[in-house]
Amino acid sequence: METLKLGRLAVIGAGKMGEALVSALVGTGVVEARGVVATARHRERLDHFERSFGIETTLDNGAAVAGAEVIMLCVKPQIAPAVIEELSGHLNEQQVLLSIVAGLTTEMIESHVGKEVPVVRAMPNTPSQIGAGMTAVCGGRWATADHVEMGRELFSRIGRSLVLDEKYFDAVTGVSGSGPAFIYVVIEAMAEGGVKMGLPRTVATELAAQTCLGAGQMVVEKGAHPALLKDEVTTPAGCTVDGLLKLEEGGLRVTVIKAIVEAGRRAGELVSG
Ligand SMILES: NC(=O)c1ccc[n+]([C@@H]2O[C@H](COP(=O)([O-])OP(=O)(O)OC[C@H]3O[C@@H](n4cnc5c(N)ncnc54)[C@H](OP(=O)(O)O)[C@@H]3O)[C@@H](O)[C@H]2O)c1
Repeated sequence: METLKLGRLAVIGAGKMGEALVSALVGTGVVEARGVVATARHRERLDHFERSFGIETTLDNGAAVAGAEVIMLCVKPQIAPAVIEELSGHLNEQQVLLSIVAGLTTEMIESHVGKEVPVVRAMPNTPSQIGAGMTAVCGGRWATADHVEMGRELFSRIGRSLVLDEKYFDAVTGVSGSGPAFIYVVIEAMAEGGVKMGLPRTVATELAAQTCLGAGQMVVEKGAHPALLKDEVTTPAGCTVDGLLKLEEGGLRVTVIKAIVEAGRRAGELVSG
């Protein structure tokens, strides 16, 4: 991982995710600032990128692609097909097109490109902004295992990353793409519980947020089943079991499952609007 080094990187769509990626990749030396060019629709956004990272910017997507080793597509799903068609005339088979666009399959991308350009698809999430992201990566028809591994390594700079079959990508979007929003609601609700019990809101929010962070870290680092970790907290006839009973009564488990299934289902519709 430490050896990953890119020549020139073009970021098409300098939005929130584009910023997280540029910040991490320039910050960890994967690419030098002078080797990055970013595009957006508005000049103000690009001025912000120039000031923050000292990178090159342009409103011309085609010009950005010229000479880039990796082209990272970070625009919204609804406009992505048109942007790919705009890029296609400038792309060649030696470049890698790396897309983070939700719902846009490698097959769709390849059909809009119309050339044998290697395509890597990734599904990151917003905690990538602070280096705590979760990203799944897969390759299209013309991508080699090395291309996919390059993509995985790249996203490991902004959190955890894994290679996964593309058939799971809508599910990934539901669990880890939309997941942060679901967890924020849980944090808000836990904090509200603390406020109801008389805690100052800032204290309650910190307690709730750090508890979610710690619980998630326990699962990831210990590799233990969440049910076993839950049992460790749950003393017979203690207070936690009474709380768990309320969660079951409220249908938390089924509600969360349904939320993820619905978000994943919607991911498949995004490109068509
Ligand atoms: N946010 C997430 O949680 C998340 C997670 C996984 C994947 N994604 C995917 O990441 C992509 C970007 O999401 P985001 O949250 O970063 O969106 P965003 O903040 O709205 O950024 C989109 C950027 O695209 C730029 N843009 C619009 N039209 C363009 C064009 N024709 N050419 C070049 N750039 C153009 C916009 O420029 P202006 O700022 O000048 O308008 C904006 O900076 C989406 O496809 C989304 O599905 C997002």
